[in-house]
Amino acid sequence: MRSLLFVPADTAKKLDKAMTSGADAVIIDLEDSIAPDAKTRARQSAAAFLKDAIATKSRPYILVRVNGLQTGLIDADLDAIGPAKPDAIMLPKAEGGASVVHAAAKLAVREAISGLPDGHIKVIALATETAAALFVAGTFAGASARLSALTWGAEDLSAELGAQANRDAQGRFLDPYRLARALCLAGAAAANVPAIDTVYVDFRDSDGLRRECEEAYRDGFVGKLAVHPAQVPIINEIFSPSADALARARAIVAAFAANPDAGVVSIGGVMYDRPHLARAQRLLALAPPT
Ligand code: COA
Ligand code: MG
Repeated sequence: MRSLLFVPADTAKKLDKAMTSGADAVIIDLEDSIAPDAKTRARQSAAAFLKDAIATKSRPYILVRVNGLQTGLIDADLDAIGPAKPDAIMLPKAEGGASVVHAAAKLAVREAISGLPDGHIKVIALATETAAALFVAGTFAGASARLSALTWGAEDLSAELGAQANRDAQGRFLDPYRLARALCLAGAAAANVPAIDTVYVDFRDSDGLRRECEEAYRDGFVGKLAVHPAQVPIINEIFSPSADALARARAIVAAFAANPDAGVVSIGGVMYDRPHLARAQRLLALAPPT
């Protein structure tokens, strides 16, 4: 999943637009983009939209960002959207694997009520939105087979830390958020799930977005959250491996396949050993089917 586009659950026009935006996933938001008094109506509109959208042929992956476990709102969210069978929920303000276990139990109940198979609704966790979350970012492994990816957030974290800003004058994340980003990456790898980079909120700044995508792709993130449809094609482009990179990966895999006992091979005067093979296999596994 390269691009995951947020859409406020209460805006029908944007929901429709998101479905044809080219995003790999659409995230129907019941959390931060919905005012407290508008939650009930937003749940209804999310459920109505989901019911039709899930039945659409060749559609994006569809998830719902529910409200966090600490808010007292998540049960009503799940009651509303469970019967409409989203592919996944996004769990904000997750604090380690224990939060995923807790959310998974709630999902299992809704699946039983709706006649869905146990484990049908997956979970993508927002792993760095509270200070406490940073200290348990390494505890997601084995929490639940539902866990499909980790992502991270800097907005709620900066509010919690009492910061004036989370980026410097050049638009780069400051140290506490670079730490959160790295913990997301390492926490995801430790849990053997993909890591997805956070939003770039300045949605008219395509150069800034492009730079941040390139850095995230370089560091091992497989995709990025989007807040505007204009961000989707840039994200899709940068998180798709180039033809050269794919050809190189295939050559590495082929060289090791031809020499199954080798620890190291040479291709065109360059040495490749086992970590290169693992990286090549990972790249090919993430590449879109040809
Ligand atoms: N998903 C789908 N469509 C979107 C969209 C989104 N996230 N954001 C904008 N659009 C649509 C607009 O409705 C508009 O459609 P139109 O051309 O048919 O009128 C078009 O794209 C251009 O939008 P634009 O005028 O550039 O932006 P805007 O001022 O309407 O909206 C935001 C700006 C930030 C309010 C909007 O992008 C948004 O709601 N983003 C998601 C917010 C969110 O979910 N936040 C929570 C996670 S951080
Ligand atoms: Mg938030």
